[in-house]
Amino acid sequence: MVTPTTKIHDYAVPLRDDVRDFLMDLLRRSFAHTYLEIGTGEGVSTTYIARHIPHLKIDTVEKRASHVERAYQSFFAHDVLDRVHIYHDDAFEFYPTKPYDAILIDAAKSHQQALVEKYIPHVSQGGFMLVDNTDLSRVKTSPVTRSRDALSSKHDQFIDWLITTYKDAVTWHDLGDGIALIRP
Ligand SMILES: C[S@@+](CC[C@H](N)C(=O)[O-])C[C@H]1O[C@@H](n2cnc3c(N)ncnc32)[C@H](O)[C@@H]1O
Repeated sequence: MVTPTTKIHDYAVPLRDDVRDFLMDLLRRSFAHTYLEIGTGEGVSTTYIARHIPHLKIDTVEKRASHVERAYQSFFAHDVLDRVHIYHDDAFEFYPTKPYDAILIDAAKSHQQALVEKYIPHVSQGGFMLVDNTDLSRVKTSPVTRSRDALSSKHDQFIDWLITTYKDAVTWHDLGDGIALIRP
């Protein structure tokens, strides 16, 4: 049984279908061979992507043991373990040993900027990074509390930082809960 949590980013909500399809289209069109997912959840999106893009080598990082277990079972059941490597680790402790053609940031929504800063140097030349939940609508529309306000304002600062840091290298897409595509 999954232990209840009050942290919004601990829930394993998969990418919305339109976001996942957009990502798969980008992976295909850019001939990506390597893909890193930060925040595996229960492996729903990665299982789907691995089944539909069989040449793709996927590394995925998840800190919650119960999610790692569920994801591993999904990868095993769908026979994609030869292409998917799951790391049970905190994204802030994990250190990539190779560049990736594509990186998805879909973990702690309160640490989006730190995750982008940490992982963007690991995007290979010509590659891209996708950041999910740039609208953060679940937080923006939830009842006002001090912690909700703090997260909301930190998120606004993150969006400002993305705009000023990446300028024309970032594009915004009105899919799912909002996504940013960075081509560093
Ligand atoms: C939105 S879910 C990921 C869903 C998944 N990408 C999919 O589409 O199926 C976010 C996940 O990030 C994990 N997470 C949050 N903070 C993390 C961290 N610092 N390191 C690794 N995983 C983290 C959570 O436990 C949760 O499972």
